[in-house]
Amino acid sequence: MSKQFDVLVIGGGPGGYVAAIRAAQLGFATACCESNPYADPKGEPRLGGTCLNVGCIPSKALLHTSHLFEEAAHTFAGQGIKVSAPSIDVPVMKARKDGVVTQLTAGIKGLFKKNKVTMIPGHGSFVGKDGEFYKVKVGGEEVLAKQVIIATGSKPRHLPNVPVDQKIVMDNEGALNQESVPKKLAVIGAGVIGLEMGSVWRRLGSEVTILEALPDFMPFADQDVAKEALKLFTKQGLSIQTGVKIGEIKAGKKGVSIAYESKDGKAEKLDADRLIVSIGRIPNTDGLNAEAVGLKLNERGMIEVDGHCRTNLPGVWAVGDVVRGPMLAHKAMEEGVMVAELIAGQAGHCNLDLVPGVIYTAPEIAWVGKSEQQLKAEGVAYKAGKIPFLANGRALGMGDPSGFVKMLACAKTDCILGVHIIGPNASELISEAVVAMEFGGASEDLARICHAHPTLSEAVHEAALACDKRALHF
Ligand code: FAD
Ligand code: NAI
Repeated sequence: MSKQFDVLVIGGGPGGYVAAIRAAQLGFATACCESNPYADPKGEPRLGGTCLNVGCIPSKALLHTSHLFEEAAHTFAGQGIKVSAPSIDVPVMKARKDGVVTQLTAGIKGLFKKNKVTMIPGHGSFVGKDGEFYKVKVGGEEVLAKQVIIATGSKPRHLPNVPVDQKIVMDNEGALNQESVPKKLAVIGAGVIGLEMGSVWRRLGSEVTILEALPDFMPFADQDVAKEALKLFTKQGLSIQTGVKIGEIKAGKKGVSIAYESKDGKAEKLDADRLIVSIGRIPNTDGLNAEAVGLKLNERGMIEVDGHCRTNLPGVWAVGDVVRGPMLAHKAMEEGVMVAELIAGQAGHCNLDLVPGVIYTAPEIAWVGKSEQQLKAEGVAYKAGKIPFLANGRALGMGDPSGFVKMLACAKTDCILGVHIIGPNASELISEAVVAMEFGGASEDLARICHAHPTLSEAVHEAALACDKRALHF
């Protein structure tokens, strides 16, 4: 006898588990299947997807520990705190990180129970249709559902002919689970994972070299921010080489050797104890048996969807990393909620233009909206307000005055078009910009709002004032 549901969600990552909870809240009989090979203490697949298990959460836990380590080693003395040189116990650091992951993934199971979402362990793949129901095989059983939300996420892209053993050659999974600090760490790809993971292990003592294929550093960010970031990261000791061509990679039991051509065409070789390959991610659509129902994928294997995450099949939706748009947990969650609400006949909404991006390095980097180079390319007349954290009392008091806030507003309407921050707590500060922009706010609006003193948010306030050339503290 098949199990029958109104909504079946395939994949229990941030896109899927949030969609399932919202669908259940809206009164649908909802199930979510998950095939994560990592089991929780009860032997069931862990929920939370890449984000909770091998992504956002564990990486931020390690970034936090390694930041504290660096503070203790380098900044305590200057504030009069005397401690002997700190040392790092990697297994303890890792166990704390694993504890956070276990707590949060178990928390999702609790949320499923509270909201009456049925969790079905196992890999979901389409079988066909039965009247108004889609038939999906999950593990050994058949599940019938009127609506299917695909949230199968993504997996790391690997280099051809370079096997990942998660010990010497690692992707994000191995990078988060190293048992010791490598003396020399090579990273291929200066994207978000390369920068965050490179920072973690550098802070703990590794000599880190990042090799990037593109000629420019962080081309996706505002170039003012990218320049400042490159300057600061290099000063911290990260060696970042752009415009390289990776050649042969030889990995043994004790290390790895990477042949590459440098930007100026020289043949180079980098020997390292370990290598992190962080060259982007690919959608998880294999094993879904999309052909059984005629589900359309694009040439990159992503599921094709419209602005409301509708696929080419009525009643089949797809959200998160498996569809177009930034591969970010908050974007996946927004889409999950939108789809559940659309299924319920409500007006679901997800504005891909205002999904904030954050890199959790030190200083942090965060942005929303258009960069200056994008506005120039689009021929949009704009004005800019830029305030360094050096002019912010709170940042100075915290001993962390690097970076700036840059606001871009329309020259004609004053509407805020983009905000770019590199500096302390940029990840939190960017929310004010997202709210203002979602409300169609102008720089004048933010300039006229009272910001608490002394706070880092005053730098956002000052950047808004600077758009009108009337900054007060710079
Ligand atoms: P996923 O989280 O990948 O979840 C998909 C789930 O579906 C998985 O659990 C998988 O096991 C399951 N699944 C796949 N196929 C099937 C199937 N056929 N049947 C059943 N189950 C299936 N984003 C941020 O916003 N902020 C960050 O700080 C951040 N840090 C990151 C750090 C790292 C190291 C990495 C790798 C990623 C990070 N991300 C971050 C990205 C974020 O993790 C993803 O964007 C997010 O997890 C995508 O959510 P999702 O639900 O679409 O997919
Ligand atoms: P990425 O897309 O951010 O960066 C990959 C980098 O590798 C690019 O700069 C690319 O030019 C480079 N590259 C590709 N092929 C290469 C090659 N052969 N040789 C050298 N360089 C090469 O991808 P990354 O870092 O793997 O992260 C995947 C995704 O996970 C991100 O796009 C992001 O969506 C998400 N993520 C988000 C985080 C956050 O929000 N803070 C943190 C970590 C990951």
